[in-house]
Amino acid sequence: MKPLNFNQKWILVTGASSGLGYEMARQLANQHKANLIITARRADKLDQLKAELEKHAGIQVKTVVADMSVPADVDRLIAESLNGQQLYAAILNAGVTFFGSHLELTEADFERMLQTNVRSVVRISTELVRHFEANKQQGGLMVVSSMAALFPVPYQAIYSGTKGFIMNFINALVLEIKNPNFSLTVYAPGGIATEMTEGEKFNDLKGWLMPVNKAAKEGLYALQHRKYNHIPGLLNRIGSSFMRVMPKRFIVGQLGRTYAKALAKLNTGK
Ligand SMILES: NC(=O)c1ccc[n+]([C@@H]2O[C@H](COP(=O)([O-])OP(=O)(O)OC[C@H]3O[C@@H](n4cnc5c(N)ncnc54)[C@H](OP(=O)(O)O)[C@@H]3O)[C@@H](O)[C@H]2O)c1
Repeated sequence: MKPLNFNQKWILVTGASSGLGYEMARQLANQHKANLIITARRADKLDQLKAELEKHAGIQVKTVVADMSVPADVDRLIAESLNGQQLYAAILNAGVTFFGSHLELTEADFERMLQTNVRSVVRISTELVRHFEANKQQGGLMVVSSMAALFPVPYQAIYSGTKGFIMNFINALVLEIKNPNFSLTVYAPGGIATEMTEGEKFNDLKGWLMPVNKAAKEGLYALQHRKYNHIPGLLNRIGSSFMRVMPKRFIVGQLGRTYAKALAKLNTGK
């Protein structure tokens, strides 16, 4: 399959108001000259990004304010993405986490995380796959999972479950695709320096975080080159291969101790 060429094509990026989605949108516009459909809940951030990119990159940007935890918003985003322009690629990046004891997660927050990280991804992927299967056009779709999909992460138990769900879903679905010009990619970063990890709960882990521009660049490379699964960063790739040959209980125990220590420090203020 030929690599994707984003130049002058329309690409959907969810979660484009901050972090990885924001940076991928900027690189797609500035370096690849792609037209963008950007979406998130914060309208002001989307408007600022649209103004910046249209002025400096000379491309077109459509904004869609939508909450991925609300099914009607997800359906509206699908309609806006497929009508009015020819969609070439999509990056389903919007996601939320909860870092803490599972018993402190409220039912409402659990529901929101499930809707945002899983339901919206399944719904949008399904409709976009249906679209590309019917018209046989060239294109690609990438979902942003996480290394937390590869190994269960204590204190982010639900989050790692949601990321494992979408990784398995997309890695399975790709083998049902009949359009030879359409690819499905799973992007699985380790920690990245974004709003998600800027709180003090992550203080102990900050030395491990990848700069967001690097994570964005590798993500776009994975989509463009139609990777099946892609983990950014050599150390992350070596680490994940190493973790695969170790007993799972041992690895999960190590992860759990690291996170428990970070949380305990925060609670005791030491
Ligand atoms: N940071 C990490 O260490 C890390 C590691 C591996 C994977 N990831 C994954 O990378 C993706 C991007 O995360 P990030 O690190 O860039 O975090 P971030 O800076 O917090 O960005 C999250 C984005 O998702 C959007 N979003 C959140 N809830 C939403 C909702 N209900 N509806 C619509 N949009 C919503 C946010 O926009 P609004 O708030 O404006 O809606 C924001 O644009 C996530 O899927 C995350 O799981 C992150």
